[in-house]
Amino acid sequence: MQKKIEQAQTLLEALPYIKKYSNQIFVIKYGGSAQINPELKDKFAQDIILLYLVGIKPVIVHGGGNKINEMLDKLQIKSEFVDGMRVTDAQVMEVVEMVLSGNINKEITTLLNMHGAKALGITGKDANFITAVPKDNGKYGLVGEIVHIDNTVIENLLADKFIPVIAPIASANEINHPGFNINADLAASKIAASLKARKIIFMTDIAGVMDKEKNLLSTLTEDEINAYKADGTIIGGMIPKVDACLEAVNGGVEKAHIINGKIEHSILLEIFTSEGIGTVIKK
Ligand SMILES: Nc1ncnc2c1ncn2[C@@H]1O[C@H](COP(=O)(O)OP(=O)(O)OP(=O)(O)O)[C@@H](O)[C@H]1O
Ligand SMILES: [Mg+2]
Repeated sequence: MQKKIEQAQTLLEALPYIKKYSNQIFVIKYGGSAQINPELKDKFAQDIILLYLVGIKPVIVHGGGNKINEMLDKLQIKSEFVDGMRVTDAQVMEVVEMVLSGNINKEITTLLNMHGAKALGITGKDANFITAVPKDNGKYGLVGEIVHIDNTVIENLLADKFIPVIAPIASANEINHPGFNINADLAASKIAASLKARKIIFMTDIAGVMDKEKNLLSTLTEDEINAYKADGTIIGGMIPKVDACLEAVNGGVEKAHIINGKIEHSILLEIFTSEGIGTVIKK
């Protein structure tokens, strides 16, 4: 009986958050690094369904770093990372699109649907809803910077109770162009700001942003982020992630969270408990 009462209390702890967030858009960036094994993926899907059933509108943007690397290795195509960004030539782009849009996007969509959602997988090329130009004058090849998002596409899907699952590929708005590879963190933040999302949550493979001594930084300001980038504390894939957090909160999203997607049900712990688990960035 005691256990049952505790269960009820756990549910009640979530009540204020459910009230607060009902009907709000949450953008969830599901990092390739957190898509590890079938059990974790299944728990991710359960968590998203729970958010959906309590009235939150989840919008999923996914990465796929590891799987893209595996496929590039299989095909013996070399690629390198600069500033946490995958330098993308036409050959790499073909693989990026194949893996992100063909494989990972459909895997996530199928999983959510098997758990009872109506998930619909798209890329920015569908309905031409995300358009981009070369990032930093083509410094990273076909890595793009988003210049326009047609919100009506996502808004219509949400109005029809779909869970949009977005692969971070953009249209160049040009015939015979292969399109652009967008860093998934930066795609998620642009989408979140554009949709006026309440929250953006980055699920990755580490507890949050760490200082040089590997202590978790549970909150971060813009000045602190800039200092940690300058002194080499924040490097690699964490660079676009903190940039994306800033872009989101400066674009009107209330809070950006970086959490460890390798912890079971980490989204629920972050959203529905008072403590939270990762790094939070507010304006
Ligand atoms: N200061 C820091 N604190 C925490 N992690 C950091 C820091 N600096 C660099 N990192 C690295 O950033 C990585 C997370 O970014 P990464 O791009 O690898 O994953 P992801 O974005 O979740 O996945 P994907 O790019 O496939 O979508 C961590 O695993 C860690 O190695
Ligand atoms: Mg990354």
